[in-house]
Order: sequence, then C-alpha cells, then structure tokens
Amino acid sequence: MTALFSEFYDATKRFRRPYGESIVTHPYTEAMVKECLDRLANEPDSKISKKCRIYRNGRQLGPFEAKEFIIEVSRFPTLASVAWEELTEGEPFLIFVNFAALLSHELSEASRRFIGDFARRFEPEGISIEHHLIIGKYDETAFGVHIDDATDRVFHFNLGPSAKEMILWPREDYLASYNGDLARPLKSVSTSGSQTHPMPVGGCFFLPADYYHVGRSPHGVSVVVSLALTRQNHKHQMAATLAALDLFANVKESADDYYKDFSSRPDPDAFANVWAKAEEIGFANLLEHARARNRSNNYFIEVSPIDASPLPSEAAWFEIEDASNLQLIDHNGSLNVYSRGHYASLHDPAHIKIFKDAVQTGRFEFSMRHFQDARERGDRGTALLGWLIATKGAARSYAAE
Ligand SMILES: [Fe+2]
Repeated sequence: MTALFSEFYDATKRFRRPYGESIVTHPYTEAMVKECLDRLANEPDSKISKKCRIYRNGRQLGPFEAKEFIIEVSRFPTLASVAWEELTEGEPFLIFVNFAALLSHELSEASRRFIGDFARRFEPEGISIEHHLIIGKYDETAFGVHIDDATDRVFHFNLGPSAKEMILWPREDYLASYNGDLARPLKSVSTSGSQTHPMPVGGCFFLPADYYHVGRSPHGVSVVVSLALTRQNHKHQMAATLAALDLFANVKESADDYYKDFSSRPDPDAFANVWAKAEEIGFANLLEHARARNRSNNYFIEVSPIDASPLPSEAAWFEIEDASNLQLIDHNGSLNVYSRGHYASLHDPAHIKIFKDAVQTGRFEFSMRHFQDARERGDRGTALLGWLIATKGAARSYAAE
C-alpha cells in the first residue's frame, strides 16, 4: 500500500471531503492506456465493446463508428503521438472506458501493487474497484452535472497532457435547487455554491460520494485513469456468486429450437442445475463463498472472466508463474482453491492429492485430451488443472524441457 492509500486507510473522514494532491506517486502510464485502447481496437467484432462509449460534440457515436474511431486512434504508435485535433477536426470529444483493468494486464497488476492490502480495511463486506479511462477534450463530460452511485468513491489520476478540473455541488444544496430534474447540462446549473477543483497533470483528485459533479477538460486533451471504489453489500455479493455458479453448473442450452419453434421452452434442467449447485454449496454458505471469492488473492479489482480459449490439442507444459496468485486452503477435509479472483473446491481426497501434487511441483503437462479424459472418469483433481489454466493461474511454459 502506497502513501496515498495509507492516508485513507485509517481516516474515515478522508472519504467525506474532496481531496487533491498536485503531485502524487502512482503507477499509471500512457502505455497502459494505450494497451487498453489497442485491445478495444483489436477485438474481432466490427462494433465497439460495451466497455467503451465515445462522444463527439456531445453526441454518442454508434457502435460501428465508435469502433472505427478507436481503430484510428490505435494506429498511432504511442498515446502521446495521437493527432487528436486531426482525428476530431477540433471538435470536443470524450472516450469513456469501463472495466479498464480487464483490458491491460499491466494496469491490473500495477493497481494491485499500488493498492496493496488497503481493501482489508473493509472486511468483511469488502470493496471492489473498477478502473475507468476518461480521455478527451470537452467543456463538460457528456454526462452533465450528475451524482454517482451512493456506494462509489472515485480516485482520479490525470496523465495529461492537459490539466482538467471538476466542479462540485454539495448534494443537499443541489437537491434543494433542482429537485425533480437532477442530471443537467452545466449551462443550466448555477455555479453559485459550487467548488472548482483542479485536476493537474501528475496529480490525484479524490471525489467523495456526497457531491453532484461535472468534469471539464476545455483547454486540451486529458487522459485520466480513475479508480471507483464500491462498497459491496450482501445483495451484490450474492448476485456475483449466483453468476459464478453458472461456471460450476455447466448451463448449456441449444438455441436451435428457439429459432424454429416459438413455443419451445428453455431446458428446465439447465436452470435446475444452477439451483442444484447452489443447494449443494448450501445457501447458508453462499455468502461466505461470495466473500471468499471477493477477497481471493486480494483480487478486489476487476476479476477477469474465465478465459475459454481452447486448451492445446497436443500435450504442453504449464507452470505456475506467480504462486501469490494461487491459494490452497484446507477446511474440514475439503480443499478451497483461489486463483486470481476465482474460486473452486475439491472434496475427494484422491482428487485433492492429484491437484496438490501438480501445484506443489509448480508445473504440469496438460491438453484438451487430459481435460476431457479427466471429466469422463470423474477425476476433478486433474480437471481442475484445466480451470487453473483458464483463470490464468497457470500459463504455457516455453522453457526447454
Ligand atoms: Fe461521475
């Protein structure tokens, strides 16, 4: 945990008021932002990912034109060399990216080191952190004057090249003036009673929850990496766990019947499987499971979805590169396995031994065949090594054998 977060670690009061530092040590770089934009540009779909919204002159681009825009941006070798004026014909623009840590491994790992054990302060309910990229030149963001979710608190790091600013109105005052029509363009809001906070290049600005606000980058392009800290209530955690259950329950449905027959019904077994699995885990344990998943290996930042990229057809060697991403916890004869924010468990002693042996050796041979054979004979220990690869807890080893 770095100095910035240690200040916020002990003082709850810190979260109540806006806080700025003109120079702060942080790990975020233009290269990481570039990596995110390149990932968006290189995704195979011809429309933009839902993670990214682009506005020009206050108008949101359609999914195909947004994709073309991001591809043009990505053609420049560095972020600093992007000819924004040319690309946008000098018009105001805004690129807003959600879940940015899923788009850059570097960004995700840098954040984990930067934030360190800060999240422990919020046990047992925990926090989650989502990264946003806010890039552009604009008199006000396309969101106008608005307030974020009451559970959110946001750190902003401006990488430049231009300084930006944020105007804040205390929530109560704002509500008193504009009750009934809350989200408004800046021009329809009086700035009396507001405070303007600079967001200088190289600095940090912390936005507390209790303020209506609007961001401005009127003098040039600013590139901001922001961390939105969210308290997670039980409902959120349960929802995340139920979603994760799909993974264990193998929900598979054929769309074919739907195309042909409007009166066909979804496979009742597919959903029953999810509930059966929920019952197997025990509803009483679901919350515990959710919390465990929440803090597994401190993966409180965006958890990568399970990577379904195919296992190699020929046997290949895999190794556990960073043991800190993997935790094995014995509990009442079961083995709980945590890998980069994902959770699984083994109950059969033979399966536990197979899995543990592979992990302790640090490397193992695997292929699609290994995975399928293991599933057929009910060997969850070996099958779980496939899951370990999918969570990126283990990676292909290219070292000489
Ligand atoms: Fe906001």
